[in-house]
Amino acid sequence: MNTSSRKVVSVGLLGCGTVGASFFRLMEESRAQILETTGAELSITKVAVKDKNKQRSVYIPPELICDDPMDVVGDDSIDIVVECIGGINPALELISASLEGKKSVVTANKELLARHWNQLHDKAAANKVQLFCEAAVGGAIPVVRALEVSLAGEKIRRVTGILNGTTNYILTKMSEESLAYEDALREAQDLGFAEADPTADVGGHDAASKLAILASTAFHSEVKADDVFCEGIEKVTAADMDFAKRSGYSIKLLAVAETLGPNDSDDLPTAAAGQKIAVRVYPAMVSLTHPLASVRLSFNACFLEGAASGELMLYGRGAGGLPTASAILGDVMTAVSCASPAISSALLKRAEIYPVGKLENKYYISLYVSDQSGVLAEVAEVFAKNKVSIRSMEQIGMFDEARLVFITHLANEDNMQRTLSELGSLTCVEKVGSFLRVYGDE
Ligand code: NDP
Ligand code: HSE
Repeated sequence: MNTSSRKVVSVGLLGCGTVGASFFRLMEESRAQILETTGAELSITKVAVKDKNKQRSVYIPPELICDDPMDVVGDDSIDIVVECIGGINPALELISASLEGKKSVVTANKELLARHWNQLHDKAAANKVQLFCEAAVGGAIPVVRALEVSLAGEKIRRVTGILNGTTNYILTKMSEESLAYEDALREAQDLGFAEADPTADVGGHDAASKLAILASTAFHSEVKADDVFCEGIEKVTAADMDFAKRSGYSIKLLAVAETLGPNDSDDLPTAAAGQKIAVRVYPAMVSLTHPLASVRLSFNACFLEGAASGELMLYGRGAGGLPTASAILGDVMTAVSCASPAISSALLKRAEIYPVGKLENKYYISLYVSDQSGVLAEVAEVFAKNKVSIRSMEQIGMFDEARLVFITHLANEDNMQRTLSELGSLTCVEKVGSFLRVYGDE
């Protein structure tokens, strides 16, 4: 695309739901500012949707609307394609065809990028166009660009994020208003935060896709969504919330990526030779002393730890139409200015993934037990046998409702899993209730 000699830049929009409609509105409202900043007159000249007759939250002139996205992708007069359909198909085909047609692409589609990063960046580089995805991670938070540009020379050691607005909204409402999980989820859906299939949110898969993108960007190694160990928030109970509140924690769906292993040198901004990348998403008890504990509702945050920068945190609205549209508009304007992201043309080597079983964590475990003498000794023996050291223990309730709640010291994940399975088979343990990692509790 050569926009330097052109006054008008034509944008084709694929999808006009929560995000696409907000982007349409924001771009219309920002025309004067865009012209002043980029010197170009941007206009959306085609909008592809599934159902042309659907009522939209924004007025789209009927002559712009089509129901065949190939009409947008194949239109030679369109310079930039903005993809807000989501999912793998047909988005993969549409983005590929756009790039092959020499159109730069801006997408909010984390699911796709977390699976086809190199393939799509390869195509963009081969066709000398840009592929941008700021909106795919953390909504309005400019974390992708911060990692690609501002922190390009930094050796990032760890990225810890709250990367899903829907789950953070649900957990906040359960904690602060004692709302039932299903009611909180419904609210998040009504507010436009949730994915078309909300199991991607509550099961942790949406955060896993975002973490894969952040890890790829931070460590300059291709991490895929399937590399990420993933547990969702479906099993978090009101009892866990009560314990967290009484004990100085907040329960959050955390996404953690870090480099581990030998050669922990400071001289490269990449995962150094021999280093592996550990990536996981799970609900955790986050100590109230950690800044991530105060991230509420649909807000997201990324807590970055760099060798030279030390700790820094980016915070903002992680979901919803307008915040996401803001990130898309920034990418579109960058595409118009032809400023290339630092790593867009460099293909990433495949990351070596560190096994989750070898990681160490502190843990919260609750067990439903018979309220009898000797039970605690039997349970403690299983912990001891598996080298899991108990930091604190509390009995909640009595008789038929007795629950033992443990917080451990740092323990190996495989040892902890073995402990859980052996505890589950003790006759004095009616069932293993909850199991969460503990974070930021130094
Ligand atoms: P929506 O379901 O609200 O919108 C999807 C849009 O795509 C709809 O307009 C739909 O058309 C259209 N569409 C679906 N299939 C086709 C097709 N085959 N051809 C043409 N159009 C099609 O999703 P969102 O706006 O919430 O999400 C869009 C993307 O943005 C996803 O990748 C999502 O992960 C991402 N995202 C979403 C955020 C959010 O807060 N919602 C935040 C950050 C990223 P129709 O309207 O006619 O049904
Ligand atoms: N469903 C996603 C979330 C949208 O709740 O965070 C933003 O990516």
